[in-house]
Amino acid sequence: MTVPAPSRPAERIRPRRRGELIEVLKLLAQAGADHTPVVLTSRELGDRLGVSQQAADRYLLELERRGFLERAMANRRQRLQLTAAGLEELRREYRAYRRIFEGPAQAAITGEVVSGLGEGRYYLSQPGYVVQFSERLGYTPYPGTLNVRLKAAEQRRLAVLGDWTGVRIDGFEAGGRTFGGATCYPAKLNGRKCHLIRPDRSHYQDVVEFVAAERLRSRLGLRDGTPVRAELEER
Ligand code: CDP
Repeated sequence: MTVPAPSRPAERIRPRRRGELIEVLKLLAQAGADHTPVVLTSRELGDRLGVSQQAADRYLLELERRGFLERAMANRRQRLQLTAAGLEELRREYRAYRRIFEGPAQAAITGEVVSGLGEGRYYLSQPGYVVQFSERLGYTPYPGTLNVRLKAAEQRRLAVLGDWTGVRIDGFEAGGRTFGGATCYPAKLNGRKCHLIRPDRSHYQDVVEFVAAERLRSRLGLRDGTPVRAELEER
C-alpha cells in the first residue's frame, strides 16, 4: 500500500507573490474565464503556466481564497470563472501598463455652470479636508465647489475616470460626524487649473464639481448658465 506523502504545511501555505497570481489571472482571462465559466484541469493549467499540477492547484486555491476566482465542479471537471474582484485586480495591472506605455490619458467635457445647495463651502472648510487638499493637490482650495451640469452624452464620457488613478482624498471623522472620501482629477476649466472632484458618495448624477485655488466664477466671469469646457488629464 502506498501512502501519499504528507504535504509540507510550510509549502502549502506559502503566500503567492502578486505577480504570480496576476500571471494566472491573465491566463484564465485569456482562456475566456473573464466572461464565462471555463472547463480547465489543474494539469492543463499547469502545462500552460509551465508548473506542476500541484503548483497550479495551489494557485487556484489561493485565487479562490482571495475572492478572485469561483470554482464549481461539473461532471468531475472544474469550471473556473473570475469574480468581479479578480477582474479588478487584473484591471489594476492593465492601468499601470497603459499609463507606462501610453502616458496620461485625456478627456474633455462641456457643460454649464449651475448653483448647488451651498454645501461645498461647508465641506471645503473642514480642516480634515483642507490639510489633505494642501498636501495632495498642492494648494489650499477656495472654500466651495463650482458645479457644472452635464448633458447625458457628456456624462458618459466621464466613465473613463473609472480607469484613472486620480488623487485620493480620504474620509475622516470629526465632531461626531463622518466625512466621506473623494477622488480628484487634474483639470483645466476654460483654461484655468483646477481639479474635478468626485465624492465617493455623490447625490448628483448630472452635475460634476470642481475645486480650485481661486474663485473660478470671479476669475472667469462665470454665471449660472455659462457654458464651460473642462480638459481632464490622468495624473
Ligand atoms: O451653492 P454652491 O453649492 O454652488 O456653492 P459652494 O460650493 O458653497 O461654493 C460657493 C460659491 O463659489 C458658488 O457660487 C461656487 O460656484 C463658487 N466657486 C467658485 O467660483 N470657484 C471655486 N473654486 C469654488 C466655488
